[in-house]
Amino acid sequence: MIIAPSVLSFDYDKFNEEIEVLNKKAEFLHFDVMDGHFVPNLSFGPEILKAFRRSSNLFMDVHLMVDDPAYFSEVFIKAGADGITFHYESLNDIIKCDRLIDAIHKKYIKVGISVKPGTDIEVIKPLLDRVDIVLVMSVEPGFGGQDFIQDSYTKIMYLNKYRKEHDLKYLIEVDGGVNDKNAHELLQSGADILVAGSFVFKGDINNNLDILRKCK
Ligand code: DX5
Ligand code: ZN
Repeated sequence: MIIAPSVLSFDYDKFNEEIEVLNKKAEFLHFDVMDGHFVPNLSFGPEILKAFRRSSNLFMDVHLMVDDPAYFSEVFIKAGADGITFHYESLNDIIKCDRLIDAIHKKYIKVGISVKPGTDIEVIKPLLDRVDIVLVMSVEPGFGGQDFIQDSYTKIMYLNKYRKEHDLKYLIEVDGGVNDKNAHELLQSGADILVAGSFVFKGDINNNLDILRKCK
């Protein structure tokens, strides 16, 4: 089980204290990059990633919710990303997605492909033998604190079955509305990486991460 706290919900007033806990109790840091076009919200640029990079050796898991993932993947790789996940819907073209996967892999960076809740998982099938991560959005991308969309289990179970049948190695990441009530079932369904923002950062993050870890 990999825990990927979403820093969209991070409390910057307690930077040193919170980063120390995350370094001890998480494996990934999940950066939700939003450009105000692909999603109706704006989050942060590469300088924030650089600040976390200076204070953490966790896997910097960048989730691009942007219209131009080719441009921003370069920007965030330069800022220290270990993985770049982009949305199929930002290119809507298998060939373009394939080329971007290639370009990112050429920089020795892990690549993830993500689909929104309303996108049929079948559309990314041609890419599944190329990616390191498949990010299943279990909320409409753009904001933290939304309710988990129950239908997400179907995609996770499909991806889990597909990788076994085709001997593929991608990890399944789930993102949005993840908490202690659904974490165990998500893992049982095949999820490997749990992104959590509000559940982790609301209240005592040390305790919240312990609770999440116990859901395995
Ligand atoms: C939403 C982001 C998610 C979100 C998760 O667009 O991709 O990572 O921040 O936040 P919670 O866990 O609060 O749903
Ligand atoms: Zn995310």
